[in-house]
Amino acid sequence: MNKDFLWGGAVAAHQVEGAWDLEGKGISIADVMTAGSKDKAREITDGVIDGEYYPNHEGIDFYHYYKEDIKMFAEMGFKCLRTSIAWTRIFPNGDESEPNEAGLKFYDNLFDELLKYDIEPVITLSHFEMPYHLVKEYGGWRNRKLIDFFVHFSATVMRRYKDKVKYWLTFNEINNQRILDNPIYAWTNSGILYKDDDNKLEVMYQATHYQFVAGALVVKKAKEINPAFQVGCVLAATPNYPLTSDPNDILLAQQEDDNQLFFTDVQVRGHYSKKVWKSWENSGYSIDVTEEDLMCLSEGTVDFIGMTYYLSNTVSTRPEAKRLNDKLLGSEVLVENPMAETTEWGWTIDPKGLRYYLNLLANRYELPIFIVENGFGYADQFEDGSIHDKERMEYLTEHIKQMQLAIEEDGADVMGYTVWGCIDPISFTTGEMRKRYGFLYVDRDNNGNGSLKRYKKDSFYWYQELIANNGLVMKD
Ligand code: BG6
Repeated sequence: MNKDFLWGGAVAAHQVEGAWDLEGKGISIADVMTAGSKDKAREITDGVIDGEYYPNHEGIDFYHYYKEDIKMFAEMGFKCLRTSIAWTRIFPNGDESEPNEAGLKFYDNLFDELLKYDIEPVITLSHFEMPYHLVKEYGGWRNRKLIDFFVHFSATVMRRYKDKVKYWLTFNEINNQRILDNPIYAWTNSGILYKDDDNKLEVMYQATHYQFVAGALVVKKAKEINPAFQVGCVLAATPNYPLTSDPNDILLAQQEDDNQLFFTDVQVRGHYSKKVWKSWENSGYSIDVTEEDLMCLSEGTVDFIGMTYYLSNTVSTRPEAKRLNDKLLGSEVLVENPMAETTEWGWTIDPKGLRYYLNLLANRYELPIFIVENGFGYADQFEDGSIHDKERMEYLTEHIKQMQLAIEEDGADVMGYTVWGCIDPISFTTGEMRKRYGFLYVDRDNNGNGSLKRYKKDSFYWYQELIANNGLVMKD
């Protein structure tokens, strides 16, 4: 492994910081999401309603604990930490011209604390937390005006932290919104709640087009502010396997992959494919795309690809296939993969899928790849101050092994690897605390009870050793 490889962890502001209304912060779209579970969808309420429980309001109070937490990340040997800037700390409503100094100061302090330990900040500009006001007033990313608001926010923070942050990511898992049947995805990606008469796919293409343009403008601005900046996109990378060799299954899997890779195609290549133009034409969509937009896309392509990896999907047209009908994973074409186990939350455990996808991205785009999330959501057992999270260590070991094979055997150019939820965060899809990911256990439960005290899990020491060895010591 390259000696500069960026080992570390990842979190997102709204899932850990808490302090949802402190020091001038505005309400974000995450602040109106209630708690759910695998079987109970999170609700999106019309504003913050008294009596409802919103787990992101307190998160794990990283806002006040960050010094103590970062000290423990440093103890593990982190080379980087991926987190996001909450847009609403900087621009509470999103459409102001002047930023909130208290919000800017918070991230100054946070980044200084990381740099004190030589931990490189890797910063996501939009991780499911746009200002709620932009939804109410403008309709979220349905509206072209969002481009200006987002670019203004991004330029403000990139200027402010130009000597502290080098790695930037634009939109987290921008392709999640392709899952049309679960409202949580359009909401968290784009601040959109579909109306009855919406053609969902058309609305989705329009919103993502505006995001592509905004992302490209951010890349261009980044280079003006500091030519050394590296800007990436983020793809939720989920291989789609055909269940059988029936050519219909093969074509379906290819179609599902194309639907996903559409997002990186535009951000990496700087233009829409012929297939996309054709499908818009065939469907009669009228997407607002200008010549200037197209120029901008071609001028603002990303420097690297951020990918998150948790699971693979299997698809089939065959009547005998066992349909998953999982509202969180989406799409009625998904079927059970008889070859793979799943987590309690129904996510397929498939380490080799990571190697498969690294190869796919590396060959398709020939750009560096940053694995900005990989992790194991598990209901850890707390036993007198100890947490023996053997399953997590096994999951991570197998995935890291496959990543190393992709690098060392297949020649994939991978810059870094950050374990998702390196300190237990609030789950994004369910709002639970019980679905834990961290090397650090946080004493808090699904209802918001607990001391917030942090405890080192067994995996803390395992990851510490792994980083010290610059990766897994691979045995034959
Ligand atoms: C990714 C997101 O989708 O997966 C994170 O970028 C999220 O925000 C992570 O937390 C794991 O999902 P969940 O629902 O288990 O928290």
